[in-house]
Amino acid sequence: MSEKVYPVPASWKKTAYVDDAGYKKMYAESIKDPAKFWGKHAKRLDWFKVPKKVKNTTYAYPKVSIKWYEDGVLNVSYNCIDRHLKKRGDQVAIIWEGDDPYYDKKITYNELYEHVCRFANVLKKNGVKKGDCVTIYLPMIPEAAYAMLACARIGAVHSIVFGGFSPDSLASRINDANSKLIITADEGMRGGRKVPLKANCDDALKRCAGNEKVVVVRRTGGAVTMIPGRDLWYHDEAASVPADCKPEKMKAEDPLFILYTSGSTGKPKGVLHTTGGYLVYASMTHQYVFDYHDGDIYWCTADVGWVTGHSYIVYGPLANGATTLMFEGVPNYPTNSRFWEVIDKHKVNIFYTAPTAIRALMGAGEGAVAKTSRKSLRLLGSVGEPINPEAWEWYHRVVGDERCPIVDTWWQTETGGILITPLPGATKLKPGSATRPFFGIQPALVDDKGVILEGDTSGNLVILDSWPGQMRTVFGDHDRFVQTYFSTYKGMYFTGDGCRRDKDGYYWITGRVDDVINVSGHRLGTAEVESALVAHPKVSEAAVVGYPHDIKGQGIYCYVTLMAGEEGDDELRKDLVAHVRKEIGPLATPDKIQFAPGLPKTRSGKIMRRILRKIAEDDFAALGDTSTLADPSVVDDLIEKRQNKR
Ligand code: WTA
Repeated sequence: MSEKVYPVPASWKKTAYVDDAGYKKMYAESIKDPAKFWGKHAKRLDWFKVPKKVKNTTYAYPKVSIKWYEDGVLNVSYNCIDRHLKKRGDQVAIIWEGDDPYYDKKITYNELYEHVCRFANVLKKNGVKKGDCVTIYLPMIPEAAYAMLACARIGAVHSIVFGGFSPDSLASRINDANSKLIITADEGMRGGRKVPLKANCDDALKRCAGNEKVVVVRRTGGAVTMIPGRDLWYHDEAASVPADCKPEKMKAEDPLFILYTSGSTGKPKGVLHTTGGYLVYASMTHQYVFDYHDGDIYWCTADVGWVTGHSYIVYGPLANGATTLMFEGVPNYPTNSRFWEVIDKHKVNIFYTAPTAIRALMGAGEGAVAKTSRKSLRLLGSVGEPINPEAWEWYHRVVGDERCPIVDTWWQTETGGILITPLPGATKLKPGSATRPFFGIQPALVDDKGVILEGDTSGNLVILDSWPGQMRTVFGDHDRFVQTYFSTYKGMYFTGDGCRRDKDGYYWITGRVDDVINVSGHRLGTAEVESALVAHPKVSEAAVVGYPHDIKGQGIYCYVTLMAGEEGDDELRKDLVAHVRKEIGPLATPDKIQFAPGLPKTRSGKIMRRILRKIAEDDFAALGDTSTLADPSVVDDLIEKRQNKR
């Protein structure tokens, strides 16, 4: 833990929405009477019918139920577009920066309105109705935002699948959500390379019901196969529909989107977010955490395939009438200065990225940063994984010239928005700490029995009461929702993260305590990688753990037991890596594969992952008691192989 403390810069005190006293006052109000607090802040949105019933939530196991603003009626796309038109129709809503630095685009709110209405009409024309699910498999192009908002406009539920997922992963998400319409592009562009999205989609659809339609956005002009009757070009469709579309009246608890995320067991689950509470929370956190003021240029580098892109590229910023930058490319293309050049080019004031990107750029040296100005920057943000103090200090000193506070924001796909974070005008910063809870959030630390711990201590991070942005259920499986998040510690939402709280009440997230790993800020279940590995004909068993990785945060370490008679060599290693990439996608590429004739198991056959984690970390002294293993000698063999790097 870093002992350094960075005070709020004097310049922030004058302009920020809240100072320390303001934070404390608002936080106290939010906890004392949540219904009153969230009722008041619901007014930040435009409602067709203003809600009177604000909070109706219970964490009581097993009857967990979460409803916010249930009698309210609104439309998300109306809130993100229409209501801004009078005042800021000609203001830029989205700055799009292409993969190739030569290409960019600015889309005003007036233009956004037209694009979204047309897209909404294309969906309607192709049979999409309120409540239907639409799968979006697009690169980072403005059409991704148009498609999301178009769904919201007509009351369809979107499910975005990140472009780095394989056809198999895409197919299982299309099937689980029962999507009848898929939106994709001919190809994506990332770091100068093409991603064959339409071809992946064709492949995926071989595993689907067969009655799906595909709307294809032209991005690169690369050759694709269009199947008549199934595949439609977006530009043809858009030209054939009107540029106006009335927003559907949605109940606050109507679903807005599903987003699949990994857990410690089983297949990825469809995290379901609804309309009213989600938007209140996304927009309010965006305003306060980033201290967003009119005229600011705001850039979040995430992909819309992840929750950060949903809440903090599209919904939060646009609900606030912001100018949000959408970047198609990667941090090191064409050079390691790209992020900083984009900041200078578009005069970005607020910049929000992930520790893995910071660490990678830190490795590239200060020169690539120093040659740019970055004078426009006022605030920096971090999200996705714990930020190590060295990376924090570098970000602060080199990127922010010691002028910009850093908001280290802790949250999850499930939480819809940021839960633990500094507020830049209020919070003294400690490098590596996400600091204090946002309004309405009651974090607590519990021991393994669920007993709440007080003061300066470490434990499992739980949240004691609901907030408006919380997920409502796992799509199609409410029992899984209850079991996953509310059964470990009854009456509390369990985050899956370990955490330390210091004497000042600051929270320091230490990482997952379950079988979820965080690779370059991407969440993966070790069980998913294991099931991909055992699907290979030569593999009989596999155990996967995370291990510390300098750039990625965590790397993927696979212990693989082969079928009798199979030989483990580099050839097979390569084959297994390719196999996992094909099954899940490039984001799940194994970093290390160790062939293991035996895995450490208890007498009842349970794999002792704790031991495997320690071996992967080269921490052989900390293996603990291995005497309960069915065959303790396997551990010696694993260690020997690890030391010989075989
Ligand atoms: C981790 C991403 C430490 C954490 C928004 C969490 C973090 C998981 C931070 C959720 C942070 C996210 N400090 N850890 N600032 N932000 N995490 O669902 O382990 O992709 O449970 O949501 O990322 O990942 P997800």
